[in-house]
Parts: sequence; C-alpha cells; structure tokens
Amino acid sequence: MTHAVKTSDSSKALYGGITSRRITVRDIAAAKERGEKWPMLTAYDAMTASVFDQAGIPVLLVGDSMGNCHLGYESTVPVTMDEITMLSAAVVRGTKRALIVGDLPFGAYQESAVQALRNATRLVKEAGVTAVKLEGGERSAHQIELLVQAGIPVMAHVGLTPQSVNAYGGYPVQGRGEEAAQQLLRDAKAVQDAGAFAVVLELVPAELAAEVTRILHIPTVGIGAGPECDAQVLVWTDMAGMTQGRVPRFVKQYAQLGEALGNAARDFAADVVGGAYPTEAHSFH
Ligand code: KIV
Repeated sequence: MTHAVKTSDSSKALYGGITSRRITVRDIAAAKERGEKWPMLTAYDAMTASVFDQAGIPVLLVGDSMGNCHLGYESTVPVTMDEITMLSAAVVRGTKRALIVGDLPFGAYQESAVQALRNATRLVKEAGVTAVKLEGGERSAHQIELLVQAGIPVMAHVGLTPQSVNAYGGYPVQGRGEEAAQQLLRDAKAVQDAGAFAVVLELVPAELAAEVTRILHIPTVGIGAGPECDAQVLVWTDMAGMTQGRVPRFVKQYAQLGEALGNAARDFAADVVGGAYPTEAHSFH
C-alpha cells in the first residue's frame, strides 16, 4: 500500500500503514491524536470483507444494516443475535488486518446492562469480533460502562439511530435546532465518559458534527455528518452501487456493481441459451 496519509510516521497509519497485525483500539486512539482521517465500511460476508481488508480499510462494521442490505428485511429492526453472530464470524474469518466491530441488534441490549454484556460477550467469543457497537447516547451509557469494565471495546452511535425507525416514523436528520443540538452534545459526551472508544454520528448537521469532533477526545465516525468527522463510514452496498432504489443524499457511489453484476448475469444467460458457453476450453475429456 502506498497511500499518502497525514501522519509523521506513516508506518503507524490506519490506512496505508500497519501491515503485520490487526488494527487495535489503541491504533484508533493514536490516529485521533495525529489528526489522521480514516475510512470504515460495513461488511456482511467473508469474501467481500477480504476484498476490503486487502484494500486497506482499517475498520469493518458488521452492521445491523445487514437487515436491509443483505437479508431482505425492510429495516434493521428484525435482525437477530444469531444472524449478526454468524455473519460477524464470516467477516472475521475473511480478514487479517481490519478491526472488526459487531453490531448489537435491536432488543439485544435495551433491557439492561447485563443483557448487553451477555450478548456482547457472545459476539466476542463466538464470532471473534474485537469490539461491539450499540445505539444511543445518555440512554445507553450504563450498558457501555459495563461492557468497557468487562474488557469489551464499544463503538457508540448517536444522532439518527436506525433501530428507532418506528419511533421516528422515518429517517429524519437529527440535532437541528438548539435543544436537539444540546441533546446531541450531551449524548456524545455521555458515551465518551462511559468509555466508548469511538462514536458514530449519523445524519447530523455538518457544523454540529464538527463541534462534537472538536470537543471529544475519542474519534467521531460520520455518516451523513459532513466532512469534519475523524472518520467516515458508508454501508458498502451504497458505496459500491449495489443498493436498489433510492440512495441517500450523503452517499457517494464509487462503482456501479449492481449494473455490472446484472450485465454479467445477462451475458452468462445469453451464452447458455445460445450455446456459446461452455466451449471446448471449459470442458474435460
Ligand atoms: O448498521 C450499520 O451499518 C450502521 C452504520 C450505518 C454506521 O450502523
């Protein structure tokens, strides 16, 4: 990897450095001190995760976005611990370098800190993830505290929390207006104080995300939160143009994989129907 990074010692960079081992939460903290920005993507299977790992993406999230993007649900709400655990294990198996974060799905941590610890422990032990993510600011601080005490690194998630889609009645931008902005700041500080090693800011005005990024000593990971966050995350199917239908405004598509895959399938079908595949070169005697 030969990517330019903003760091005095590029061998320690999250992107373009560290080649011999997995990224750790200490590397993430050091990147914030250096002012290094870093990318994060979701992944839900071993093969795709391996591609991203080899591309140098330092942090992969086995997000509950698998509900919409991989499992065919309408939202993240139905995703279960069994599903997250199985796909997280696949992502861990497919990677050598990236820090893997497993998402705690809806219903896996809201009941109590003890429930959160039980399910986070399962993800760490059965799937082999390094860290877990859960949604909520002040309301989830208790859970974060217990997980961190138990030795499980936690990535927090504030702003728009998609598991609350039924309460929101959609996916509205968060933190607009003085009161909402103050609540977002309280949420971000609460998860930092509880011991989270990073915090996702989802669908938050860019100015507010910039302020949170300045105030916190843990890195902010933006999605629809403007350019000032320490890191940026995208759902991989959005990033690569696999997502069908409406694509959120904050997404930049770096490929048109859905179209390419459809064309490949059509070409294969035409060859089979027309007798152009297989040929002698693909045959055994
Ligand atoms: O589940 C997910 O993919 C997420 C990201 C959008 C941050 O929570």
